[in-house]
Amino acid sequence: MTYKINDELIEKIHDSSDLVDIVSRYVRLKKTGGNYVGLCPFHSEKTPSFTVSESKQLFHCFGCGEGGDLINFVMKIENLSFIDAVKFLADLQGIPLEENKIDYKLKLEKDILYAINKDAARFYYYNLNNNKRPLRYLQNRNIDKNIINKFGLGYAPDRWESVNNYLIEKGYKEVDIEKAGLIGRRKDNTGYYDRFRNRIIFPIIDFKGRVIGFGGRVLDNSMPKYLNSRDTLIFSKGNNLYGLNLIKKHSDDEKLILVEGYMDVISLYKNGINYAVASLGTAFTHNQAKLLKRYKREIYICYDSDRAGINATIKALNILGKEGIEPKIIVLPIGQDPDDFINENGLEEFNNLIDRALNHIDYKIFINKQKYNLNNTEDKIKFTKEISKILRDLKSPIEKEVYIDKVSREIGVSKEAIQKEVSGRDYKGNTSFYKDKYINGRNRYNKNKIMPIKTVLEPAHLTAEKTLIRLMIKNKEYYNVIRSYLGREDFLNYEHNILANIIFKEYETNSDLTELAPKLIIDKLGKEENLDYNLIYEIMDIDVDFLPDNKHKLIEDLIKRIEYSKLEMTRKEILKEIQEIESKKRKDEGDVEKFKSLCLELTKLDKKLKSHI
Ligand code: CTP
Ligand code: MN
Repeated sequence: MTYKINDELIEKIHDSSDLVDIVSRYVRLKKTGGNYVGLCPFHSEKTPSFTVSESKQLFHCFGCGEGGDLINFVMKIENLSFIDAVKFLADLQGIPLEENKIDYKLKLEKDILYAINKDAARFYYYNLNNNKRPLRYLQNRNIDKNIINKFGLGYAPDRWESVNNYLIEKGYKEVDIEKAGLIGRRKDNTGYYDRFRNRIIFPIIDFKGRVIGFGGRVLDNSMPKYLNSRDTLIFSKGNNLYGLNLIKKHSDDEKLILVEGYMDVISLYKNGINYAVASLGTAFTHNQAKLLKRYKREIYICYDSDRAGINATIKALNILGKEGIEPKIIVLPIGQDPDDFINENGLEEFNNLIDRALNHIDYKIFINKQKYNLNNTEDKIKFTKEISKILRDLKSPIEKEVYIDKVSREIGVSKEAIQKEVSGRDYKGNTSFYKDKYINGRNRYNKNKIMPIKTVLEPAHLTAEKTLIRLMIKNKEYYNVIRSYLGREDFLNYEHNILANIIFKEYETNSDLTELAPKLIIDKLGKEENLDYNLIYEIMDIDVDFLPDNKHKLIEDLIKRIEYSKLEMTRKEILKEIQEIESKKRKDEGDVEKFKSLCLELTKLDKKLKSHI
């Protein structure tokens, strides 16, 4: 064997593996007090005397006397030599054996960051308990002292150098505090400023109980809603899950629920579901799937029930599938997240949802059912074709059969027809007939079910307008880009429209301006009546530096968002007209013509909307 075993590798293995996880691969453990117990794998017994200490990372059997650490356990249970047990664990954790040069410097560096984070978390926690406003905010969301303590919630004061001063006083160096991502260097190089200010702080704690990063939420509606630690030596968003630390400590449940946000984990916990973890708002990653896999539990996905959440669910399903995990999907009422749902309906109702969770095929069928109106023939065809595409990918013939049967019964299309559709063969044995015109879709006018009609502007749309306004004020270059896509009339909110008018006018009449002073704009507003000034100050308060770095990408996304909602609004209007015609008892020729052209328009719109997703 050519690989090297050294202290560094062993350290890495201990660092990345958890004895409870490893033992759980072989033994069914139950939590009792601070330890886990189970039936000893090394001798035969009926009552459990095999004990694992999570905090000490040691095991011991009171029956046969066997005991030791992680590596001893693997040696014994897999019947391996020390070196092979190390290799076994390294493989398991994906630690490359060639790269195990001793790097004590790195370890030291990391330890400093862990220590800084821990002290920062203490500081934020202390500040929360001494500040009325954040406490009141949490109170309003029904989060009590007990939950604050469980999650170690905190508050970053509304000052530029509070955590920084505190940590310096504790003896840490500014360079290290910066490496932990807690402070940023001032642009003019005159020192550092706190990155988290006036935010509720959610410490992100890994499964070993170490604080690896932070999330910070604003107390109002300003942007960005959440700010997270940037990636550091010890923190990488896509490699962690929020709430993992509490999973082992408190829950013996067989289930694990994947949610989107901090507040979802907390609300579920508060209401008695202590086995939820959050993917922190980023796209779910393979590494996160691997983390979940370790727990050997039944995985549920419960993302927000909006368009983004549905798309994220489908992506997570695919990623988990690649790891061999078959999760179930908990479906929430449209527009809700787990936090909303459990607060409104309580534990029992949520448990009912868990019981009714769908597997991935049922989920895809469910999503497609919402898209189509099955009372309409053309939609029914499209639906069946859509579902057949999904069933086509099923590997198990039995599963295929069961679903074909189910779909056939549900929508009243013969099994044989679906069967043919699924196998992708027409009567002449041509395999590609399913790529026909229906897939590209015409007359999708009864798809209105997937887009709930709203009469007010969507929050995401408002936020997009707000942020674009702020960016235009900040920098003429941004203004130029934005103006090339949007006109004044595109800002639909009253205040935003007025601001856009002023901004456009200022840049147009003073060609040497490179940015606008917020004060100038407020002065210009002066005479306008009926303005919501809070909204205007909120915009001016948006800290442009804290918006994502890639401003052009951001602008592009925001413009897309606005275009999307404009399309949705037009769609709503067309639908209304269509419905008016449909509800007419007697339709004349003009109505029929109009109906046709409206449907055509709607189809075009739907295509555009679809390409926006
Ligand atoms: N998120 C983020 N940055 C943002 C917005 C969201 O990192 N600007 C992440 C956070 O981890 C957040 C998750 O995405 O918890 C889900 O976002 P969202 O649903 O908007 O927030 P909630 O968790 O529902 O928070 P709240 O209920 O306080 O609005
Ligand atoms: Mn929420």
